[in-house]
Amino acid sequence: MFTPEEIAQQIPFCLGATDFPTLGEKYEGKVRDNYIKDGRRVLIATDRLSAFDRVITLIPFKGQVLNQIAEFWFRKTSDIVKNHVIAFPDPNVVVARECLPLPVEMVVRGYLTGVTTTSAWYHYERGGRNFCGNVLPEGMRKNQQFSRPILTPSTKAAHGGHDESVAPEEIVGRGVLTREMWQKLADISLRLFARGVEICAEQGIILVDTKYEFGLLDGEIILMDEIHTPDSSRFWFANEYEARFSRGEEQKKIDKEYLREWLAARGFIGEGEIPAIPDEIRVETARRYIEAYELITGREFEAEVGEVISRIQRNVVGLSS
Ligand SMILES: Nc1ncnc2c1ncn2[C@@H]1O[C@H](COP(=O)(O)OP(=O)(O)O)[C@@H](O)[C@H]1O
Ligand SMILES: [Mg+2]
Repeated sequence: MFTPEEIAQQIPFCLGATDFPTLGEKYEGKVRDNYIKDGRRVLIATDRLSAFDRVITLIPFKGQVLNQIAEFWFRKTSDIVKNHVIAFPDPNVVVARECLPLPVEMVVRGYLTGVTTTSAWYHYERGGRNFCGNVLPEGMRKNQQFSRPILTPSTKAAHGGHDESVAPEEIVGRGVLTREMWQKLADISLRLFARGVEICAEQGIILVDTKYEFGLLDGEIILMDEIHTPDSSRFWFANEYEARFSRGEEQKKIDKEYLREWLAARGFIGEGEIPAIPDEIRVETARRYIEAYELITGREFEAEVGEVISRIQRNVVGLSS
């Protein structure tokens, strides 16, 4: 495991932005720079951290952690659904097949939790007993496990917008997806989630909830974007779950909640000026991302302190020209 001192040395080399016009037309997401050309999409995971739908700061090694956790899961789930992966030519990069994105994010939740206004717990605490078409029993407590994982899809907002949770009936009713397509996506999502839960359990982790994005290619459903990363999922430590739950305490988390809570404690929940983030907070956030990689994959995180951009230039841009 990297020491805080080693992580701090990477701060000047954080990957904030890229500019590789030969790779194709650029789409800058919150976290990934995408280059699209000839049916291929090169996704470069930068070190940008987004929270409350805003880009907050750069976290050393975050891009690599994210890309390599996704790589791990794409391999572990390729028997369930085809995915967009062509190659991983660099620790921060995946070359993918360009898909026609389906306009729904498939959110799967195993536990009644969350903090934001779109979370299941926020809804439940205020008396809501029907969450995206899932009828929830009375008397549940925060962080309690659902009797089985529930699907709470949300429609993908355009660039910069906020996503909106909707019931499957509405997705079909509004003509966003056919009923048949919805059923297929629902089935695949629940199977992916079950696989994630199973592999995490072997590692002593609870996969709490996650979201999947799918696209179409030649009429076939393809899993795209990322899978079971700390940006798209919540993870808790399994060994402390029961004790904390019975005492009514918060769970021990392995995700980006750390920085979100730091921001929220300073009154920032998405609007107005972003507070300046001290280096030690960035280092601690990085340490947690690296820990997430090691816990989830069971492997040691391997990286070198130094320039990321020039390595990507060599590994990816060098190849295509
Ligand atoms: N194989 C693919 N084909 C088409 N679009 C994709 C594919 N994989 C990922 N995407 C899209 O690329 C973007 C990835 O960059 P990201 O930083 O996550 O962006 P965002 O801010 O939109 O979440 C997302 O908008 C995602 O939907
Ligand atoms: Mg994204």
